[in-house]
Amino acid sequence: MADLTRKMRRDWDRRARTDAMHFVNTARSGWDEKEFFATGEENVRDHILNDMDAVCQGRDPARMRVLEIGCGVGRMTRALAATFGEVHGVDVSEEMVRRAKQFLRNTPNAHVYHNSGKDLRVLGDLDFDFAYSFIVFQHIPSRAVIDSYVGAVSQCLRRGSTFKFQVQGYQGSNLLQNGRDTWLGASVSEIQAATMAKRHGFELRRSAGAGTQYHWLWFYKP
Ligand SMILES: C[S@@+](CC[C@H](N)C(=O)[O-])C[C@H]1O[C@@H](n2cnc3c(N)ncnc32)[C@H](O)[C@@H]1O
Repeated sequence: MADLTRKMRRDWDRRARTDAMHFVNTARSGWDEKEFFATGEENVRDHILNDMDAVCQGRDPARMRVLEIGCGVGRMTRALAATFGEVHGVDVSEEMVRRAKQFLRNTPNAHVYHNSGKDLRVLGDLDFDFAYSFIVFQHIPSRAVIDSYVGAVSQCLRRGSTFKFQVQGYQGSNLLQNGRDTWLGASVSEIQAATMAKRHGFELRRSAGAGTQYHWLWFYKP
């Protein structure tokens, strides 16, 4: 796993140096900053603000501490910070985190950290009311690394909270990727997701888009 995390870091640092915004949102290259961040607001509206019952579990968003895995340059972190009390993002790429710090310099309730690429040790003993990840696990070529993150989230999520995240559901990705490619991630089926949830003390509350690139999972910590 150490070889793979090193490679993920190297590859994502290179992508960040080449065109960070493009590798975060590949819809365009040479993004205008305002338009790029508007796509983060749109994603937060679609995935978070339209799903506040599952996300907040009755809590006041202004008092919630949120975790984002794979924050990139802070595209969604900034939008999340407009709604939630505190947002903490981690990313395997130091270069992405460096850019995120710059973009978030006027967002005092958003914090970003360079992490190992497989766990959340960098966060110390912080605990969270909600955890989220979008277009990150779809790039991780190892289910063991995804499983390691699920275990780490289970450790730091408060009881009665949700971990909502997206994985690569397309089963063909396992045939296409060679286990070392850090762009095309390992697929996760509904059965594998249910097993993973159970192993780490979560209930698989909901799943959508199984078999597609956008396989969404709602893991609830009872
Ligand atoms: C396509 S970008 C998406 C960034 C952000 N989620 C967004 O939607 O704006 C994928 C991000 O995941 C990060 N990433 C990839 N593998 C990771 C890992 N194993 N642990 C943490 N971050 C990772 C990359 O460095 C990159 O910043």
